[in-house]
Amino acid sequence: MVECNSDKSALRLGVNVDHVATIRNARGGVHPDPVRAAHLVAAAGADGITAHLRGDRRHIVDDDMRRLKTEIDLPLNFEMAATAEMLKICLEAVPHACCLVPENREERTTEGGLDVAGQHYFLAPFIRKLMDAGIRVSLFIDPEPPQVEAAQSTGAPVIEIHTGAYYEATAATDPARINAELEKIKTAAELADGFGLEVHAGHGLTFKNVQPVAALPQIVELNIGHFLVGEAVFMGLGEAVKEMKRLMRDARA
Ligand code: PXP
Repeated sequence: MVECNSDKSALRLGVNVDHVATIRNARGGVHPDPVRAAHLVAAAGADGITAHLRGDRRHIVDDDMRRLKTEIDLPLNFEMAATAEMLKICLEAVPHACCLVPENREERTTEGGLDVAGQHYFLAPFIRKLMDAGIRVSLFIDPEPPQVEAAQSTGAPVIEIHTGAYYEATAATDPARINAELEKIKTAAELADGFGLEVHAGHGLTFKNVQPVAALPQIVELNIGHFLVGEAVFMGLGEAVKEMKRLMRDARA
């Protein structure tokens, strides 16, 4: 997550390097290094680096976060669950931004958004502590109006719309479902923008499905990881980032 951007014509790309660490951890050791990947995506034109420090440390580990913060010039978006452990680490690291996500040990990835509406009384003071430290907080939520309304009432300045259901629809190549999911994202983005929230989106975005989301004028940042790291096997990470940025620019133009 990068600076608050009033210029809505510019769409930023935050690259999530978690799955570089997934490959590293499959063997143990130090290769491939997610920090080296972050240097590479910065050189390719990414606008920010995103990394998720999970409670189970299945990919990114504490030292990766420390190095991403100290060695990379781009703004760091620290994704985490709203736990006491993560709050302590985040307040010590003081990243540019913190994206709060739900976390469930059995899930393969972040399945579904944060239930802000159901956890408001817990989340509002948690968010306040991060904001008091100068960290820009975003809430990863499903594109549902009650969640957008609840997000606004917590005082967080940013939401990130979970595009997972849209991804599933595009993977099923079901035009009616794709349109319905896109409509939900559009409605949520307009509502959030009307509240003065900054709007981001991410999860499951690919070269094939990114453009309809990128074309929504309220959205100022996309966070993309798994597809770019997968595509790096075929075309190289730098080229994958450049192509994603080109598609995003063209969608916006
Ligand atoms: N944004 C958030 C908040 C996420 O949790 C994730 C997945 O870790 C992403 C974006 C990126 O999703 P993907 O890896 O599917 O591109």
